[in-house]
Amino acid sequence: MGVTEDKIREFEELRDNLLTMGGEKAVQKQHDRGKLTARERVDLLFDKGTFQEVQLFVKHRSALFGMDKKEIKADGVVTGFGKVNGRTVFVASQDFTSSGGSLGEMHAKKICKVMDMAMDAKKPFIALNDSGGARIQEGVPSLEGYGGIFYRNTIGSGYIPQIAVMMGPTAGGAVYSPALTDFVFMVKETSHMYITGPDVIKAVIGEEVSHEDLGGAIAHATKSGVCHVATESDEDCLNKVRDLLSYLPDSCHSPLPVKECTDSPDRECPELDTIVPDRAARGYDMKKIIMSVADNNEMFESHELWARSVTVAFIRIMGKPVGVIANNPKFSAGVLDYKASDKAARFIRFCDAFNIPLLTFADVPGYMPGTEQEWAGIITHGAKLLHAYSEATVPKITVDVRKDYGGAYIGMCSKSLGADYVMAWPTAQIAVMGAEGACNIIYRKEISGAEDPEAKRKELVAAYEKKFNNPYFVAELGIVDEIIAPRETRKRIVALLETFKDKVEVRHPKKHNNIPL
Ligand code: HXC
Repeated sequence: MGVTEDKIREFEELRDNLLTMGGEKAVQKQHDRGKLTARERVDLLFDKGTFQEVQLFVKHRSALFGMDKKEIKADGVVTGFGKVNGRTVFVASQDFTSSGGSLGEMHAKKICKVMDMAMDAKKPFIALNDSGGARIQEGVPSLEGYGGIFYRNTIGSGYIPQIAVMMGPTAGGAVYSPALTDFVFMVKETSHMYITGPDVIKAVIGEEVSHEDLGGAIAHATKSGVCHVATESDEDCLNKVRDLLSYLPDSCHSPLPVKECTDSPDRECPELDTIVPDRAARGYDMKKIIMSVADNNEMFESHELWARSVTVAFIRIMGKPVGVIANNPKFSAGVLDYKASDKAARFIRFCDAFNIPLLTFADVPGYMPGTEQEWAGIITHGAKLLHAYSEATVPKITVDVRKDYGGAYIGMCSKSLGADYVMAWPTAQIAVMGAEGACNIIYRKEISGAEDPEAKRKELVAAYEKKFNNPYFVAELGIVDEIIAPRETRKRIVALLETFKDKVEVRHPKKHNNIPL
């Protein structure tokens, strides 16, 4: 009995020592920077008391790397699983207080272990990143460690949801694990991501830039699009991660999570009848339409600050998640530029991989013209959007709200790209191009030869608008399935999603598509 008690005491001492991480001073330094520790973050992420640690006792191979005297508790990363809103999720949380959370051979093996467990268990994986990068003393085995993580990020892609949460520095090749995940969250001021930091940039190209301007949350949320969600603090960030998880299934083979719905399937949205401005050139906020049709007017927006002419968001309809892609005329008239095309395409592919139906709201003047766009590759990037919609086999519902012109009309999930049902509001204008542009081309001779060319042009434009800039012409052709009153939109979407819930689309057997990257 005595022996057993001794053994248990010894175990508890060893365990409790490992749980102290880098020690009081290092923990205080972490707090002084406005950052939580790896363990505090894990506690906030998971439902109280549900976290189960994996491989706490793992150590680096000190003799091999000349670090005999260096103790790195839990080798600088807390790994395990627990429940988020009652559902199992795996985590690796890097401990900056222990050797800067640097990634050595065994640290990487711990992360790979929980990634493998997540894939075997078919559950989401979350990385809470806070690390000085590859553990310098360990050299190439650290790089191999990163390789193993990148490999698992890739083979897990489309199989389980993966979320990278940036809560400290990430430099060099280490940024590529987050980039391979589905969603990247960052904390303002305390998280930074870059391939080379400000000092190297200054030395190599003479450019001066701060850490925050180069690779902070706002830089990546507004300029590069690397960051999907920019957050205010560690607490705010982890709350938002929990919220996102509530929309995601455990894996591509798992059912969609269903939240009890307190909203009505028959709810009308009278506010939508007047949301589209009378003047075609006027903007409005598409998010109001999205929230109006969503259960309890709730949505989770991804990439809110990047490529804002398109909005992508998760909503619920009768408790089930739906992915929304919508032009937002509040920004650049809702145009499709190369960034907006990428943003929408990536979101569509995520939703399709995880069986989340797609709901598209179109109000698009076209693809953005100009040398900047052409040289940035709007052709290739725009093609990704076409590819993503065409490839998607989930239910696809499209609502044409207002402008829907030219190639961009197809790009916003026309019937020809496989939309299961297309509805148009009476305000919809579906055409090859706007009336002005069309008349200037097809009636050039009539206009220039007229006694009063301007009066003639106006007359022809008005006639063209009457004939083509409405949804009736395309409804007559069956290209739009139904014209609906805006207030009925939610009711119709509820009925369609219910109707298509068992949709199965079989494609040619092949290895995989070759999306134009
Ligand atoms: C080993 C490291 C480390 C690293 C930090 N530490 N980074 N140990 N390898 N990469 C240790 C420090 O020695 C120190 O240990 C503790 O972590 C805290 O570090 P400080 O420098 O005191 O902290 P701070 O002032 O906050 O600075 C943080 C930092 C800085 C900016 C991250 O530590 C730093 O510049 N680190 C090196 C970054 C780097 O160059 N990494 C390699 C990148 S290459 P003690 O024992 O004193 O507490 C890379 C390749 C990946 O990552 C490729 C993947 C394909």
